[in-house]
Amino acid sequence: MDDIYDVQGLRLSLADMARKPLFGPAPRLEILKGLTFRIRRGEIVGIVGGSGSGKSTLGRALLRLLEPSGGRVLFEGTDITHLPEAALRPYRRRIQMIFQDPMSSLNPRHRVGQIIAAPLILHGVEAPHETALRALDQVGLPRSFASRYPHELSGGQRQRVGIARAIALRPDFILADEIVSGLDVSSQAQVLAILKDRVRDLGLTLAFISHDLSVIRRLCDRVIVLYQGQIVEDGPCDEVFAHPQAAYTRELLAAIPDPDPDTDWF
Ligand SMILES: Nc1ncnc2c1ncn2[C@@H]1O[C@H](COP(=O)(O)OP(=O)(O)OP(=O)(O)O)[C@@H](O)[C@H]1O
Ligand SMILES: [Mg+2]
Repeated sequence: MDDIYDVQGLRLSLADMARKPLFGPAPRLEILKGLTFRIRRGEIVGIVGGSGSGKSTLGRALLRLLEPSGGRVLFEGTDITHLPEAALRPYRRRIQMIFQDPMSSLNPRHRVGQIIAAPLILHGVEAPHETALRALDQVGLPRSFASRYPHELSGGQRQRVGIARAIALRPDFILADEIVSGLDVSSQAQVLAILKDRVRDLGLTLAFISHDLSVIRRLCDRVIVLYQGQIVEDGPCDEVFAHPQAAYTRELLAAIPDPDPDTDWF
């Protein structure tokens, strides 16, 4: 079995600053309450749940931007749960992230070409500038966009730059956190189609965080449903959508508006 991630009983608690006493440590708030799941190579997994259910926190734990307080996270069989930053370095190229708000994740003072090339240079990738231009091709943006600044792009184009920056590094795994929630329906469809095509033809593995089940249904092979820091459902999209087991999943499904027949989904 070829797992990218094998997550066993993942727990994560954070300091609850809202209830911090004047003196002494803040009480801990358990955000992730023992999550067990796997992500297989080549899979597109949706992670869905309401606001505050722990989706972004889970993403940050998978990327080891946060250190779990319990359980284990194995990446390709290696236990990365408590690896120190120096030992995590090789994984920092192989695990990439695309953020929700490209205006804050793309440096506004850098041109698009620099934005995509900078991590390539950092990780010592050969021919970083040519690789960056190829990444623009791969997300369907003209090479001339390399000399533009982020504010000179539309929201959908900015998200394509985010995708280009992530795929240029040839990672094994990409985490995308709410990357289309700020876009209108037709740019959403375009960005998702490009993301799905590149993930498939580069053989990547993708975890796609969204509160929108209709997007997950169109994109993902499997879906994990989070509710208050716990997994309430995990299964192939077709099965979960046809026969949801958890009451919470049924609630989410009931809330999906009818698809717009004019939208050209992939
Ligand atoms: N740095 C932090 N310190 C303390 N609590 C936090 C911190 N970050 C998140 N939380 C809390 O953890 C819980 C889960 O937050 P998280 O951001 O993972 O939710 P989410 O599912 O991504 O929500 P959304 O859909 O709104 O993005 C929330 O109750 C939140 O208030
Ligand atoms: Mg979030």
